[in-house]
Amino acid sequence: MNTILVKAEEKDAILKAGEILRRGGLTAFPTETVYGLGANALDEKAAAKIYAAKGRPSDNPLIVHIARFEDLEAIAAEIPESARLLAKRFWPGPLTMIFRKTEKVPYGTTGGLDTVAVRMPSHPVALALIEAGGGYIAAPSANTSGKPSPTTAAHVAADMDGRIDLILDGGPSGIGLESTIVDVSGPVPVILRPGYINQAMLEEVVGEVQIDQALIRDDSTVRPKAPGMKYKHYAPKADLKIVEGPQEAVVREINRLIGEKTLQGEKVGVIATEETKELYQEGLVKSIGRRMDEESIGRHLYSVLREFDESEVSQIYSEAFETPKMGQAIMNRLVKAAGHQIIKV
Ligand code: TXA
Ligand code: MG
Repeated sequence: MNTILVKAEEKDAILKAGEILRRGGLTAFPTETVYGLGANALDEKAAAKIYAAKGRPSDNPLIVHIARFEDLEAIAAEIPESARLLAKRFWPGPLTMIFRKTEKVPYGTTGGLDTVAVRMPSHPVALALIEAGGGYIAAPSANTSGKPSPTTAAHVAADMDGRIDLILDGGPSGIGLESTIVDVSGPVPVILRPGYINQAMLEEVVGEVQIDQALIRDDSTVRPKAPGMKYKHYAPKADLKIVEGPQEAVVREINRLIGEKTLQGEKVGVIATEETKELYQEGLVKSIGRRMDEESIGRHLYSVLREFDESEVSQIYSEAFETPKMGQAIMNRLVKAAGHQIIKV
């Protein structure tokens, strides 16, 4: 298949991409979180193409993207009051909610579940494309299954060239981490995947919000409620370890480890910040952003992981980023990328 790459601002680009979606094809598009790989969510055959292109396990459900709140009624069997309040505050935006589904949504889109995940993104290109494509667009992150989510059209092309019909280039994603997922189908809303919208922000709107135990306990006997959270994810090719503790101790330990590995002939990489990057004596040091600006860390995490894949390093050490607002989301992705290898100092 020949994959067309077009800039979203080109004349008729969005209409053309929408036409592909209406015909049952695949179009990758920008959102404010990460790039999505879109197909018509109400067409089981179209949704099946997403699983094939990504190499995604078929029990891992897709998020249905809508552009108007009214469109939720046709796919959600019940819209609880908490969901209405959260939508009012955070839609369009980086929030996904889980509802009981109606018959309109095929099981091929929900991985066989009776629930459906729904999000209304805020990116203007995404909103225009959803409308042009028929209103209900299933879209996982547009990466090969297991790789970091794409935050630029070039990332999408690296994974999907030849596998999908079209890539709409809308520039880099602003947030850089996937949406917060909240299950609103039970009595108390439960966070299934942390994201830019954190627990405190949700609680301000609806009172108590819980966090799926599988996200906290990091215990393989507790099954995460979002099927996708159980898979190994975001892993770079090199071995990645996180070094956690007071900043000075972390820098000292990483420098010690670099020395040790370099003597063994390994090429070592470091994920540092603007504040610490000068403190490492050797190795390929990449700054992920500024600690004083945690959004910059979220925005660059996946691109830094992808950049290391293009280098020769076989071992990466990363600082930890337990920042106040996005820390839970950033560390959730980083810990997965590291296969849970954490050195505490
Ligand atoms: O920011 C985002 O959410 C991006 C952009 C493209 O919108 N999309 C995204 O999709 O991250 P994906 O497929 O990479 O992640 C969807 C997650 C998976 O972990 C999946 O298991 C979970 O949502 N999920 C989907 N439907 C679900 C459901 N009915 N119940 C529980 N979890 C669900
Ligand atoms: Mg994904």
